[in-house]
Amino acid sequence: MNTMNPKHAAELLFEGPLAEEYGMLAVICPPAAEISRRVGEYVGGWAPPYPAASLNLLEIGSGTGITTACLLASRQDTLIESVDNAPAMQTQARHNLTAALAAKRLRLIERDALSHLREMPDASIDVVASAYTLHNFLHGYRQNVLKEILRVLKPGGLFVNGDRYALDDAAEHLKSTQEEVRHYFRVFTELKRPDLLEQWVIHLFSDESEEHIMRLKPALDMMADTGFANTRLHFRNGVNALVSAVKPA
Ligand SMILES: C[S@@+](CC[C@H](N)C(=O)[O-])C[C@H]1O[C@@H](n2cnc3c(N)ncnc32)[C@H](O)[C@@H]1O
Repeated sequence: MNTMNPKHAAELLFEGPLAEEYGMLAVICPPAAEISRRVGEYVGGWAPPYPAASLNLLEIGSGTGITTACLLASRQDTLIESVDNAPAMQTQARHNLTAALAAKRLRLIERDALSHLREMPDASIDVVASAYTLHNFLHGYRQNVLKEILRVLKPGGLFVNGDRYALDDAAEHLKSTQEEVRHYFRVFTELKRPDLLEQWVIHLFSDESEEHIMRLKPALDMMADTGFANTRLHFRNGVNALVSAVKPA
């Protein structure tokens, strides 16, 4: 019998056509590219409050490498470890990020994020960055990941997350989600891809479910309750938002 509390379990959500044609994200969610760019820019402009010749950066949820590429471009003094538990996504990241892998500026790790974090030493990382990954987590799993991020960051270290943060006003959020679904239908009907339409709608149901949905205010509260300081919203375009916090020095 599986005794694991499902609210704390890792899930494998990116398989099959959804993963193999993840590039569709650019069409169905145009603001995502801007959020990835902003994650990179924020890290590029950040200075640690302690002397550091280079920065150790952990990315959670490499995906196909869209945000990883922005992080790599944002500054040259970073050594990036990026973790993702979906083989189909990591295969594409390996293909898309060959130069950084060859230059040993990047290491891709195919693993569930929480298990990886739990094996990392305390206060060993300068920056933890992520995009469009934490909203996929079950609430209990997300809370455990946040606790581990805080533990592995050096005092004064940065956590930056560009992600899907549901609108706090439930009626507004419903309206925005309905508009998203309309957009999915328009795009995939035009492309004659009912298979992808089905996959993305099913995925949206998971993101929107009570046990996953990451609303902005509760998410910022969860970060503050975990022990992060300076928890801030920098940018918002509908559900797409850039958030950062630091580990108290
Ligand atoms: C929506 S994609 C975002 C990818 C990328 N960060 C981007 O900006 O395009 C979310 C990624 O997180 C990964 N992921 C989801 N849950 C995970 C977990 N528990 N551990 C590791 N990776 C996970 C998925 O496999 C997927 O590649």
